Amino acid sequence: MGITCLLTGVAGFVGSHLAERLLALGHRVVGVDDFSTGHRINMASFEHHSDFAFFQRSVLESGLLTELVRSHPEMRTVFHLAAIVSVPYSVAHPEETMAVNHQASVQLLDEAHRHDFRAFVFAGSAAEYGTEGRLPLRESYATSATQHLSPYGESKFLASSAVASSLQPCGIALRCFNIYGPRQDPSSPYSGVISRFMERGCSGQALTIHGDGGQTRDFIYVADVVDAYVQVAGLMGTSSPTPVPAGIYNVATGGQTSVLELAKIIRDLTGNRQDLTFFPERPGDIRHSSATIDRLEQASGWAPRVTLTDGLQRTLAWARTSAQR
Ligand code: UD1
Repeated sequence: MGITCLLTGVAGFVGSHLAERLLALGHRVVGVDDFSTGHRINMASFEHHSDFAFFQRSVLESGLLTELVRSHPEMRTVFHLAAIVSVPYSVAHPEETMAVNHQASVQLLDEAHRHDFRAFVFAGSAAEYGTEGRLPLRESYATSATQHLSPYGESKFLASSAVASSLQPCGIALRCFNIYGPRQDPSSPYSGVISRFMERGCSGQALTIHGDGGQTRDFIYVADVVDAYVQVAGLMGTSSPTPVPAGIYNVATGGQTSVLELAKIIRDLTGNRQDLTFFPERPGDIRHSSATIDRLEQASGWAPRVTLTDGLQRTLAWARTSAQR
């Protein structure tokens, strides 16, 4: 028999994939989203599922979890993904970012504690490492002395730290690196590089590279990230779920790909013939990013499974069908 989970940010890129997976595993999902950046269309495949209930609410509302527990008294697990996700927006609105990403998370965690929740899984970010130059990044490298590049990074760091220090519920913060896959919104200049390259590649426009393209990132496919969420909460099987120990865990592949390499693969996959165009480096861009993932692998048995080429092919298949809509 499945369990009931609260999932905030359910209409977002990662949240919608996580909801799909939880429902497929036989769990029930109480989804919350205020559509500030999520889209109803992301929920199309499960919106009418009998084990899914949706509430258009904001995580800023105090007493939200308490109210949802009233209608779903068996609920004891939270996946908290709702957040301000745009770094430039966070720079322009630092107070709002702190309120949504940090204070609302602490408030939800307190409520989960009062209602005797079992697990609280939080969406952290690689941005929590700020200007840290030691590579590969270990979870212990982000500290209160870390210099953050944005209110987004700082707010995620504060919230992850609060979550990871909670033993009841068991607080788990997943520090995700560069996630990509279907439903990632390519529309802003600050969207992830893969969604931008896919869109331009498919529409016959030149792929745009900031800097020399030698910068590297650890790109992880959304299905692998979703596996990590499910496994840390102990929800792969449906009987007696046991979460991993409370703490912070990197979610990445452990590999590195340069932006130039990525551009070439996507150019080939999309059949784009345009020459790559080069622009000045983005201000504040970091050169390299890579992570250790042994902590998560040892605690949960999780391992990334989708290769970059496979993940890009799946993303391309989605980009082509969504362009026809
Ligand atoms: C991510 C965040 C960024 C944040 C940083 C801090 C996203 C989408 N970006 O940036 O806002 O400041 O983490 O941890 O969440 N690039 C191109 N051409 C493009 C788009 C991007 O060359 O059209 C380059 C960028 O300059 C960068 C690399 O690709 O060097 C990756 O960019 P991006 O996907 O934005 O990820 P991060 O740089 O890791």
